[in-house]
Amino acid sequence: MSSTVQAVRGMNDILPTDSPVWQFLEDTVRRIAQSYGYSEIRLPVVEKTELFKRSIGEVTDIVEKEMYTFDDRNGDSLTLRPEGTAGCVRACIEHGLLHNQIQRLWYAGPMFRHERPQKGRYRQFHQIGVEAFGLEGPDIDAEMIFMTASLWRALGIGNMQLQINSLGTIESRDEYREDLVAYLRTCESGLDMDSRRRLDSNPLRILDSKNPDMQSIIQAAPQLREYLDESSREHFGGLCELLDSAGTDYVINPGLVRGLDYYGKTVFEWVTSELGAQGTVCAGGRYDGLVSYLGGRTTPAVGFAVGLERLIAMIEVAGTDYPSGGPHVYLVMNGEKANRSGLVLAEEVRRAVPGLRLMSNCGGGSFKSQFRRADRSGAHLALIMGDDELDRGEIGIKWLRGEGGQETIPQNQLGVRLRELLSELIGLHR
Ligand code: HAM
Repeated sequence: MSSTVQAVRGMNDILPTDSPVWQFLEDTVRRIAQSYGYSEIRLPVVEKTELFKRSIGEVTDIVEKEMYTFDDRNGDSLTLRPEGTAGCVRACIEHGLLHNQIQRLWYAGPMFRHERPQKGRYRQFHQIGVEAFGLEGPDIDAEMIFMTASLWRALGIGNMQLQINSLGTIESRDEYREDLVAYLRTCESGLDMDSRRRLDSNPLRILDSKNPDMQSIIQAAPQLREYLDESSREHFGGLCELLDSAGTDYVINPGLVRGLDYYGKTVFEWVTSELGAQGTVCAGGRYDGLVSYLGGRTTPAVGFAVGLERLIAMIEVAGTDYPSGGPHVYLVMNGEKANRSGLVLAEEVRRAVPGLRLMSNCGGGSFKSQFRRADRSGAHLALIMGDDELDRGEIGIKWLRGEGGQETIPQNQLGVRLRELLSELIGLHR
């Protein structure tokens, strides 16, 4: 017997029973992004490897260990995108979208990282990303945070903590890095292997370590905050003021350094204790240097991305109500004539009642088996068309759930009657 081929580890199918929550999430994000005036940009899933090396940084976990990189048939090195910011910046430069213009953009789609799969961490996962270009003040940073907070509200999720920090400018960070490395060398024997390796390549990431044995070393380390330049200090102060005035709670986390190299000044994350080890649902920050680094004009930029698998886990924890997406009505047909004219009637009804979701019985079957299918479809209403009803120019309407109940009406009134029932049906399908 030949074995069946299975999906790649860490890459999940989204089955029909899972789709309604994905659609609810995607619709909600689209609505919120539009309500802040952001436009959608759609970007390729594959980019040149160099783009990610240059933007995310050569000595980050993503570039060193996690990218799906391959040579195509021309010998060009390509990579499945591990995130969306680099491609978004590339597209904006390539199409001249940043010339004396402000851009507020969002995108959605799969990202790929060869990480160790576990709950909340996958090799193909989905993000919705939001980026704003051409705005340098803290007001846009605050708007991004407000947008995420309204997204949590719209999705009915709670127990999320906002953590913020400032990484300062590259210059102030360089000075800090030197002092941090000098300090860490004095306690090198207490560092784990990973941190010793990072001492030369990416020492700030050591501050992000979750290793409990290293926490006392991390806590006694010099603080980046003390090294911030004047403009970063002012920017961060401005952001805190805006958050305070909106009543948005936050925690300043000096250890928040992010795993991608392009950030400077503001960084933020929304974290939750509901999801175990993978508690970061949303992350982002400012990356004023990236556009010019990739060959564009100097352009301030800020953005964030939310992990959709983690957000869906949060929606499930919260028990948020969302539309089921199934049919409202199932058409049952009994008899030869009815079978012939049923599909045509269904077409007419769909045209006459916009928004109605009508599933026709296909493939025949006894009355009983058709009702079983009607029930399984999740529909609340069955339309019953038999040869007798057809001869009389009538059609039956039967409620499948709750109290039940049945009525028979002239067929030419069906559109009117279903339009009357539609709001009730839409309500029932939430
Ligand atoms: P990131 O922190 O690498 O940032 O990812 C953002 C979010 O994507 C994470 O907080 C998490 O929710 C989700 N995520 C990341 N990796 C995985 C995974 N393996 N499985 C499931 N979910 C995952 C970025 O990607 C930046 N591009 C964000 C940004 C946009 N910064 C500025 N603009």
